Amino acid sequence: MEVIIRPDADAAAELCAQLLADALRAKPRMVLGLATGRTMERLYARLAAMHAEDRLDFSQAVSFNLDEYIGLAGDHPDSYRMYMKKHLFDRVNIDERNTHLPDGASDDPDLECARYESEIEEHGGIDFQLLGIGRTGHIGFNEPLSAMLSRTRCKALTPETLAQNAGQFADPATMPKRAMTMGVGTILDTKRAVLMATGEEKAAIIAKAVEGPITSMISATALQLHPHCTVIVDEAAAAKLEQRDYYRWIFANEPEWEPYR
Ligand code: F6R
Repeated sequence: MEVIIRPDADAAAELCAQLLADALRAKPRMVLGLATGRTMERLYARLAAMHAEDRLDFSQAVSFNLDEYIGLAGDHPDSYRMYMKKHLFDRVNIDERNTHLPDGASDDPDLECARYESEIEEHGGIDFQLLGIGRTGHIGFNEPLSAMLSRTRCKALTPETLAQNAGQFADPATMPKRAMTMGVGTILDTKRAVLMATGEEKAAIIAKAVEGPITSMISATALQLHPHCTVIVDEAAAAKLEQRDYYRWIFANEPEWEPYR
């Protein structure tokens, strides 16, 4: 794992966008793993600008989102598919037929999760996975006690996550309490993972995720086992990292990050 600290949220999103753009230019048929949430909005705005200004080309890319709420069809205004359309899919030239999210309206959510996992496999796995982190330490919706080897499945959301995301619903009372999510094992199998976190409310969980012991109580700690994971944070989210001076020194003097390999 490498940790890169940028001065603010814009600079963090800029670096993250640059890494993704380098990866996409090196492999236009890239299989992207995508996340939703407030943190990603800045990044998707930057990618949309790169598409408009620098012709960043998504035409051959394939995408798989981490998660979807159970009970929400893709055309529901609060679904993650609608989020993706608004923030990315409608703003770049990705072919919507190549974009995948679990079907939240499926009659058989367990079967849908298994189908989604197979679909990822059929595409040869995920090349480049974007991740945010929840205050419970979830990646995707892998809430505490998610097995380290878990695959795409249904998960109940914690009261903390329900409170964290309720504001994204037109009527918070309608927010589903369960979601389909790629598992921790699914995420660990991605070839490259980039987690972005910004703001002081993420400082405590980032310190635990990066420097704490690996535990299924905090799914993001599993990323310490990932073969190629970069954590990009702003100063506010980095504030509780004990080794932050070391991470700064590495980035300034011996940067490990480089265009996609
Ligand atoms: C959503 C997802 C979640 C979010 C996390 C952070 O697809 O996978 O893990 O990344 O809840 O959300 P924000 O960015 O809203 O704080």
